[in-house]
Amino acid sequence: MKQYLLGIDIGTSGTKTVLFDSCGNTISSATEEYELYQPKAGWAEQRPEDWWQATVKSIRTVITKSGVNSEDIKGIGLSGQMHGLVLLDKENKVLRPSIIWADQRTSKECEQITNLVGKERLIEITANPALTGFTASKIMWVKNNEPEIYEKAHKILLPKDYVRFMLTGEFATEVSDASGMQLLNVRERNWSKEVLEKLQIDKDLLAPVYESQEVTGKVTSEVAELTGLKEGTIVVGGAGDQAAGAIGNGIVKPGIVSSTIGTSGVVFAYTDKVTIDPLGRVHTFCHAVPNTWHVMGVTQGAGLSLKWFRDNFCNSEKEASKLMGVDPYELMTKEAINVLPGCEGLIYLPYLMGERTPHLDPYAKGVFFGLTPRHTKAHMLRAVMEGVSYSLKDCMEIIKELGIDVKEVRASGGGGRSPLWRQMQSDMFKSEVVTINSSEGPALGVALLAGVGAEIYSSVEEACDKVIARENLQTPIEENHNIYTKYYEAYKDLYVSLEHNFKSLYDIDNE
Ligand code: XUL
Repeated sequence: MKQYLLGIDIGTSGTKTVLFDSCGNTISSATEEYELYQPKAGWAEQRPEDWWQATVKSIRTVITKSGVNSEDIKGIGLSGQMHGLVLLDKENKVLRPSIIWADQRTSKECEQITNLVGKERLIEITANPALTGFTASKIMWVKNNEPEIYEKAHKILLPKDYVRFMLTGEFATEVSDASGMQLLNVRERNWSKEVLEKLQIDKDLLAPVYESQEVTGKVTSEVAELTGLKEGTIVVGGAGDQAAGAIGNGIVKPGIVSSTIGTSGVVFAYTDKVTIDPLGRVHTFCHAVPNTWHVMGVTQGAGLSLKWFRDNFCNSEKEASKLMGVDPYELMTKEAINVLPGCEGLIYLPYLMGERTPHLDPYAKGVFFGLTPRHTKAHMLRAVMEGVSYSLKDCMEIIKELGIDVKEVRASGGGGRSPLWRQMQSDMFKSEVVTINSSEGPALGVALLAGVGAEIYSSVEEACDKVIARENLQTPIEENHNIYTKYYEAYKDLYVSLEHNFKSLYDIDNE
């Protein structure tokens, strides 16, 4: 009898549900998109109800398309966009739209958290400085600005944990995603009494914390009816999208690092001890493998930058791609490949949504620098891809500075599918870049965790060894490396020169 595993990834642009067999082969998959609301500049919200509808619909489609008997689906893993704040009332109704990871409204609350806990103590416990992206500051924002809503709050959940509650009726979270709430003692892998007390957040509002492969609940009969799943199918902890993607790329041992271009961009390294950047430029979180942690640098506007460029300047490519039945990004890449590395002096700063690594600056903005009449749309397109790669290099440099060994980079996410983008990274990092045999990243990662929970595999490491193999090796081209190294210095300088302008622009916008 064949055994199957379901991975559900509640992403920022949509929910992707994938059914795998126990060798990690994709059997069927479905994606349902939803809206991102930006009521003010720097704000980003989504409706948890939309995530749930998308989950139900995509599970139903996947099961129907696959023809698999739901009895043979042995476990479900949940992955999702991290840090988003979901507030439920006593009746388990959503109290307000979720303030998601990309939202930057909480700089005041970050100061408040730093003052209440103490800068060093906060880093000692949560392994990170207060950040606008993280959940704690979003909770404090609601407390400060919408006290009438906060008073009604009965449960605080992360995006995938809300979907878990809807699937199983259980409140639960797990270590990797909980680390991004900034309320967890990252060494002890449990809620920090001290941080909760100092921020006056009642521990009962939070869900119990599990390890990522542990069973947290079972599919209810109502949900079985709605989705076609079998009642009682186990749902494991799963992982935040970055840790899940890392498992799905086999980042479970030292020396192998992933570089993911999704909406955000992430360089992710496994560590077997808690390793903290004293400057807080990269995040340290629990990994989805027991007793291990990870360090990751995050650039806010990676795939988001290219998507923004596509949607605003590439209508003709979009139209042509429809006629040709290809992805618009493929046509865009063909234009970018004809431009010389370095874009003849055109540099793009990908700070459309502020920046985390290395600047921790919610006020930073996107920039094209160095435009001349020689430059065309194709130069701008390539500059966007190069700018995102420079920002991933920023992450990589800090990870190396922390003494973490980088032998091989595994490219993933939508952007990892582009050979041009992978070559840029190989040239800039001066490192081998590979892909792996599955492009399902987070969905595969949590399906493997579900396989451990269902006892199909004995450990996460064994699951990865069985399922994941390297492909598409790209090696650095010396000449390109030398060009990029020069422009990278200019790229880094630009932020330093513009930092105060970003803040003045913010002040004008918010007068
Ligand atoms: C990680 C992060 C993003 C989101 C959305 O810290 O904020 O990766 O999880 O993908």
